[in-house]
Amino acid sequence: MAFTALLALATIAATVRAAPAAICSDGTVVSNSVCCDFVPLATALQSTLFMNDCGEDAHESIRLMFHDAVSISQSQGPSAGGGADGSMLIFPTIEPNFPANNGIDDSVNNLIPFLSMFPTISAGDLVQFAGAVALTNCPGAPRLEFLAGRANATAPAVIGLIPQPQDNVTSILDRFADAGNFSPFEVVSLLASHSVARADKVDPTLDASPFDTTPFTFDTQFFLETLLKGVGFPGLDNNTGEVASPLPLGDTASGGNDTGMMRLQSDFLLARDERTACFWQSFVNEQDFMTQSFKSAVEKLAILGSNRADLIDCSDVVPIAMPAAGVPATFPATTGPRDLQLTCLTEQFPSLTVDPGATETLVPHCSDGSEDCPTVQFSGPA
Ligand code: HEM
Ligand SMILES: *[C@@H]1O[C@H](CO)[C@@H](O)[C@H](O)[C@H]1NC(C)=O
Ligand SMILES: *[C@@H]1O[C@H](CO)[C@@H](O)[C@H](O)[C@H]1NC(C)=O
Ligand SMILES: *[C@@H]1O[C@H](CO)[C@@H](O)[C@H](O)[C@H]1NC(C)=O
Ligand SMILES: *[C@@H]1O[C@H](CO)[C@@H](O)[C@H](O)[C@H]1NC(C)=O
Repeated sequence: MAFTALLALATIAATVRAAPAAICSDGTVVSNSVCCDFVPLATALQSTLFMNDCGEDAHESIRLMFHDAVSISQSQGPSAGGGADGSMLIFPTIEPNFPANNGIDDSVNNLIPFLSMFPTISAGDLVQFAGAVALTNCPGAPRLEFLAGRANATAPAVIGLIPQPQDNVTSILDRFADAGNFSPFEVVSLLASHSVARADKVDPTLDASPFDTTPFTFDTQFFLETLLKGVGFPGLDNNTGEVASPLPLGDTASGGNDTGMMRLQSDFLLARDERTACFWQSFVNEQDFMTQSFKSAVEKLAILGSNRADLIDCSDVVPIAMPAAGVPATFPATTGPRDLQLTCLTEQFPSLTVDPGATETLVPHCSDGSEDCPTVQFSGPA
């Protein structure tokens, strides 16, 4: 076939497939008129809640998009939960009180006022859209697709569907498989979210403690730093679901009133388990691979409980995302390759530089107080 004929066919195909454009009352052109209501919602979320920043309210909305969506179970049936259905907002006195949702009430209370401001938008759409908008404020995060049309939740989800940091790898992987056939690779991909996260409930004596040293940027530093040997705790020792972090003291670059880096036991175990370690290691210093993998997995998460074909593509109303800084992953000052605990030996580990900085004077590296630790065989908690 001649090239021009091919081109003509391609043009027809593109014309047929393109959704009918609609012009919203403010003049914005969108692919479907259903998407129009999300234009002022994006503006309102940014100007009154997130302030265009990857700050605490953004992190909480990103966590909420996960906790709402994962509350669904193939084995327990539809009555266990409706997935990404906004049940957290519609039944705010039930699910937010589950222990696994400790701290989620801030994001729930933040979003509830938007339900009455935008009565045509369902609670499930609001939660997933808020998460997508929040992510665009975090440098390096992907611009997610957004599909609209989730039905409002009719019942709260049951307790026990949200993974907890004290869970073992088998139960975490089983839970994700039961929620929506997530593979171990997809579970690891979703944890890129912990690059823009911190904890204020795991250790109640701390204000908030981040999971990596970089400011709130969606980068691979989290995957690197979780592989480093833990040396201590930022606050109280051995809280439930917490294990020693490699940089427990001092100012982590994430700003605010942080008290050193904290590590979740679940992240520690997933980074080292034979089912997930190679995937974990494969994201270190691979920004595009990590971001694309997260995007695919979180887009699958976002429609749990709905049929993709029933939803309307409103991806065009998601703001443009902040680009990545484009800097390679580096070992934080005072750490280095000697601190890596690599259990995946088939994957070549990248060669990374070490950040300049004073040699650690606050914490001795080794349990015996010396600077050069003897190499010890890694063994995790049972
Ligand atoms: C194995 C699965 C997971 C476990 C066990 C887990 C556990 C936790 C815990 C314990 C916290 C700290 C809460 C606090 O003390 O304030 C946290 C924070 C967070 N998680 Fe996860 N998480 C998991 C997966 C995910 C996923 C899939 C996402 C999103 C796609 C996510 C997003 C976040 C975010 C953004 C925060 C920070 C919230 C804030 O800074 O206020 N997590 N997670
Ligand atoms: C969903 O429920 C909320 C809370 O009851 C309500 O404000 C909103 O109008 C409902 N949205 C839709 C699309 O039904
Ligand atoms: C993992 O946790 C589950 C639930 O607590 C428990 O039944 C199971 O025995 C644990 N598995 C391992 C290998 O520790
Ligand atoms: C940091 O948080 C702690 C605990 O909430 C508080 O006591 C302390 O005053 C805060 N420091 C600053 C500088 O805000
Ligand atoms: C914390 O837990 C680890 C692993 O079980 C243990 O080796 C360590 O002694 C505990 N630390 C304290 C202070 O309890």
